Amino acid sequence: MSLLIRQGEIVTGSERYVADIFCEGETITRIDTNIPPPPGAEIVEAAGKYVFPGFIDPHVHIYLPFMGTFAKDTHTTASKAALVGGTTTFIEMICPSRADKALDAFELWLGKAQGHSACDFTFHMGAVRFDDETERDLREIVKRGVASFKIFLAYKGALGVTDEELYKVLRLAKELGVITTAHCENADLIAEMQKKLLAEGKTGPEFHYWSRPPYVEAAGVHHLVAFAAATGAHVYIVHTSCQGALSVANGFASKGGNIWVETLIQYLLCDRTDAEKPDFEGAKFVMSPPLRHKANQHVLWNALRTGAVATLATDHAPFDFKGQKEMGRGDFTKIPNGIPSLEDRINLYFTYGVKCGRIDLHQFVNTSSANAAKLFGLFPRKGAIQPGADADLVVYDPSYRGKISAQTHHMNLDYNAFEGVNIEGRPHVVTVRGKIAARDGQFVGDPSRGQFLKREPNHF
Ligand code: URP
Ligand code: ZN
Ligand code: ZN
Repeated sequence: MSLLIRQGEIVTGSERYVADIFCEGETITRIDTNIPPPPGAEIVEAAGKYVFPGFIDPHVHIYLPFMGTFAKDTHTTASKAALVGGTTTFIEMICPSRADKALDAFELWLGKAQGHSACDFTFHMGAVRFDDETERDLREIVKRGVASFKIFLAYKGALGVTDEELYKVLRLAKELGVITTAHCENADLIAEMQKKLLAEGKTGPEFHYWSRPPYVEAAGVHHLVAFAAATGAHVYIVHTSCQGALSVANGFASKGGNIWVETLIQYLLCDRTDAEKPDFEGAKFVMSPPLRHKANQHVLWNALRTGAVATLATDHAPFDFKGQKEMGRGDFTKIPNGIPSLEDRINLYFTYGVKCGRIDLHQFVNTSSANAAKLFGLFPRKGAIQPGADADLVVYDPSYRGKISAQTHHMNLDYNAFEGVNIEGRPHVVTVRGKIAARDGQFVGDPSRGQFLKREPNHF
């Protein structure tokens, strides 16, 4: 069946105009004024609403064995939550342990997602060690359509790589033409500071911040930059939280370095005082890098506006408060890291970014959809509204008013870090490749229709 979206205000990274969008099969086939509805077409009236390209979250964790437990969402629950919130594609981190073979991990993660996701998906392949076998596997995984790697400079002894491994991963990434996403914090410094704080009896969630202050993150970015300069590899700094880390990355970019920066909705709206909440409530706000001093927020908003930060993601990593975050009572180093927000990213960004005048509509689309599509080899299939693009569309109602709550969210999680926060705007209709998947806060689609998006290297 065909789909006609009528009279919406189409907003892309560069254009804004009122028109009808006609979709046949999985793609957009025509954009024009007053397209006559063909017999049998499904019609969505979009007058007074925006029509955005489907949003892309370039950094999520769904299947995640981590810190002695597993993240709570399944691909079914996460993809439904994503779609209700306007995200039609996510890029999940494959995070094997050092003992795992990379190709086995790729197949495991693909098997978890394929046939179980309602939205489209792809992966960043985690390289958590580097040897001959891993190199062979990474080459094969790139051939199978994964055009980005992920490395951790933190999580010493678990996911973190040595400097020799870091060099070899980046050298391979350069050769293969894939971009490497990186978690940048100085792992040794964190380990020492954690020991010192615990020895001093500083065990609560508020001390997580003091084990990884901004200079730990800036040092991590600086370290990565040296290896990126040495290898010429393209790098993407995930979850950048503070001015210090941002200026190291931007300094390298200004000298011609191939570097891009991601920040998260949590860093724009929450700050380190959230992790100081009493009765262990602060544990809900423990993630790495930690929430920062509020002064960093206007720096990050400004960087999103100017393009110094390319993408806004979530680093969705859901751990229940009861039974999971609680594992770190009496020792903050055991609190599973993560502040989930896959469902709420777009509504929060629209409310506190666009409605509050911090960013314009085009930058809103660029940073939450088009730039990720371009950086990770999905554009213009995703991130664009044009004939030939996938019909992933978000008919967005800017007049909606509501509040975020764990009582109504779709994420498989017993709390919401944004509980009670007001939102102004929400998706009215969300389509994935021409089919309606969510409507007015409810999932209404096919839970297993999501496709693995194969990507080509050398797309920069
Ligand atoms: O706190 C975080 N960021 N949790 C998820 C794992 C990671 O570091 O991305
Ligand atoms: Zn990380
Ligand atoms: Zn992450």
